[in-house]
Amino acid sequence: MIKAILIGAGGRGIGAYGEYAIKNPNDIKFIAVADPDIERRMYFSYRHGIAPENQFSSYEEILRLPKMADTCFICTQDTLHIQPAKLALKKGYDVFLEKPMAVYPEDCVLLEEIAKKENRKLMIGHVLRYTQFFSAIKELVDSGKIGSLMTIQHNENVSFWHQAHSYVRGNWRNVETSSPMILAKSCHDLDILYWLSNSTPIKVASFGSLSYFKESSAPIGAPKYCMDGCPKESECAYFAPKVYLNAPDWMKLPVSNKMTDEDILAALKKGPYGRCVYRSDNDVVDHQVVIIEFENQMTASFTMTAFTHENTRTIKLMGTLGEIRGHMDKQEIEIYTFGNDIPEVIHLETLDYGHGGGDYGIMKAFVRLIEIGDNQEIASDEASVMSHLLAFAAEKSRLESKSIDFIQYVKDIKKNA
Ligand SMILES: NC(=O)c1ccc[n+]([C@@H]2O[C@H](COP(=O)([O-])OP(=O)(O)OC[C@H]3O[C@@H](n4cnc5c(N)ncnc54)[C@H](O)[C@@H]3O)[C@@H](O)[C@H]2O)c1
Repeated sequence: MIKAILIGAGGRGIGAYGEYAIKNPNDIKFIAVADPDIERRMYFSYRHGIAPENQFSSYEEILRLPKMADTCFICTQDTLHIQPAKLALKKGYDVFLEKPMAVYPEDCVLLEEIAKKENRKLMIGHVLRYTQFFSAIKELVDSGKIGSLMTIQHNENVSFWHQAHSYVRGNWRNVETSSPMILAKSCHDLDILYWLSNSTPIKVASFGSLSYFKESSAPIGAPKYCMDGCPKESECAYFAPKVYLNAPDWMKLPVSNKMTDEDILAALKKGPYGRCVYRSDNDVVDHQVVIIEFENQMTASFTMTAFTHENTRTIKLMGTLGEIRGHMDKQEIEIYTFGNDIPEVIHLETLDYGHGGGDYGIMKAFVRLIEIGDNQEIASDEASVMSHLLAFAAEKSRLESKSIDFIQYVKDIKKNA
């Protein structure tokens, strides 16, 4: 069993990793917590039996003290990753850091260097690699069943409602206060492409924009807040009371720590989640594509879009001898081999953990990494850095309207780090 401290008792700290520790007490025990939000800190302490002297109001406070556990979980918001991660590694903690590692490319490289220099383990929350779905696809590709992989088409179907919740009203809506959406939402997906390719990206290009969730799409007469008497409330898919009174807990928590209907409605009145989706201060894209060429001549295209009914990932992998199609939410993979019209269909078991079981898989792997040094070569911090650099390169391409020589880009970033 590994002992851990938690920095940031929010959705991920409480809901993903805290819950894992409660359900798997022989794997992880949280012995301290830091969060300025007293209600969240108290709730986490109560759930994990944390003594009052081990409850802190900031990462600065807890990381000023001598090392008190094997590992440090950092689950703060995107812009608050780099500082606590640097401090924790230098204090001698092995670190589990939520993705994205950092919001600047040089900082991602720097973190990897600090972890190496301090001889510490650093794992990034790239949960998708640990899902049954992507693990099965990786195994199929590596087995040669569809020959040599030539092309990947991968979609992150964000869905209209998730876009509105997280990227229009929520914490990841604005580049300045969080990070570009291709990093925040899809460093995961670029990581999957990098992982499946077994190769090195050499060219990256990207296009996309914020086209819909903005003032020009607002219905005539729509007020800034839904509850101020919107003429379209009965037909709008984003009418805040309708969305949040029926939402799952992970969507209610950022609206109000107390999730009663009364508290939710009070918070929506003038709070960020009660804003009209066309009149928020969001500036991240609502659709973006990324195309990549790899050293082994494989090509990949990735689409991240708000404009989908489903909230899931779908993928098609095309090889010299066949094709694989996968639907993550359905836990279904179809394999076609050329010359054979009947596909082999795999139905995976559904696990009671977030991200298609990835939240469970990554914790099992983290415990193995800390206890016996084994990470099955799945997601080294080096691979995570490359995946993040792919996201930064894609954003540079989108903003500067040019294709990026990825090899040169990586060299430049490493030189400046
Ligand atoms: N791996 C994944 O699949 C996945 C999924 C969702 C989110 N994330 C990432 O996880 C991170 C956390 O997301 P979340 O939804 O849990 O956020 P959250 O806002 O719910 O939680 C962050 C917590 O950090 C606390 N905090 C703020 N300042 C602090 C400080 N100085 N010291 C200690 N704590 C502090 C906040 O009070 C809050 O409780 C984000 O970076 C997000 O992008 C990853």
